[in-house]
Amino acid sequence: MNLVNKVTIDKGFVEADIPPSTNLVEEINNLRDEKNAVILAHYYQESEVQDIADFVGDSLDLSRKAESTSADIIIFAGVHFMAETAKILSPEKKVIIPDLNAGCSLAESCPPDQFEQFLDKYPDHIVVSYVNTSARIKALTDIVITSTNAFAIINSLPKDQKIVFAPDRNLGNYINNLTGREMVIWDGACHVHEEFSLERILELKKEYSNAKIIAHPECEKPVRIVADHVGSTSSLLKFTQEDESRAYIVATEPGILHQMKLASPDKQFIAAPPKDSTCACNDCKFMKLISLEKIYNSLKYEQPEVVMEKELINKAVGSIKKMLEISGRLGL
Ligand code: 13P
Ligand code: SF4
Repeated sequence: MNLVNKVTIDKGFVEADIPPSTNLVEEINNLRDEKNAVILAHYYQESEVQDIADFVGDSLDLSRKAESTSADIIIFAGVHFMAETAKILSPEKKVIIPDLNAGCSLAESCPPDQFEQFLDKYPDHIVVSYVNTSARIKALTDIVITSTNAFAIINSLPKDQKIVFAPDRNLGNYINNLTGREMVIWDGACHVHEEFSLERILELKKEYSNAKIIAHPECEKPVRIVADHVGSTSSLLKFTQEDESRAYIVATEPGILHQMKLASPDKQFIAAPPKDSTCACNDCKFMKLISLEKIYNSLKYEQPEVVMEKELINKAVGSIKKMLEISGRLGL
């Protein structure tokens, strides 16, 4: 598609020449003011992207910000399901994701048609889905959860309530273990969090014997078992601020280390290593597609926009609002 001369979004992001003398941070700030835009960034973004954001947070806080902002334009520095959630909660706003290719392997592991067929087998179950899903999955869902509120929301449901949980098998098993429930779990996973090597984490622990291991619940059970603390990105960050240790081995996407270091400059943070020592597989390749250049171009040309059919928004919004309502009620 041609936007103006020599500018296209054929590859899923704006391709436009930026003069080498451009001060990207200054220009982004000017455009943001001029257009009444807000930049929301997830903790897994590159440090320089987090630094220019109006708000940096986990997926729960980002969805709250998207719902409450008075900005006309939301630039979502995160992955597609997060920008889609922002659009569902604020359909009247222009929501822009700087690169449409920023997907999520976990969301992709739950194709809507297959999930719909799967649900036919469990007619007396309610459906609880992680926010890391497409809008079509949210439309089939009763309550959306994030890793911050998953335990509390599921625990607040009647004990005999039958539940289908999708799509992350690790988070689902973690909650089953904590609550003693037997939720039926969709067999999906995140390629980043399944990549951590227990052996290499334990080797690191020998080297840094005083370091605490902290892990996201999307990690596999052996990693969760050796962790001193398991929690969402915001929970891991909070733990490092409140805990007395001086060092941490962090088993989640390493983008979060930026906020940990800012909050506790005197502490040491070590990214947990992947099974494959030859690659940086614990970087979420989707999150890392967003750059300052793409943010600048997307703000300048107001593309690529997240466009959704009204009907799908109307079908998906109820399950997200239900999450925000229960989270508010539980003080989360
Ligand atoms: P949070 O809910 O902790 O922000 O996690 C989102 C995510 O994508 C984890 O991989
Ligand atoms: Fe999706 Fe995993 Fe990336 Fe999170 S880290 S956005 S779950 S692929």
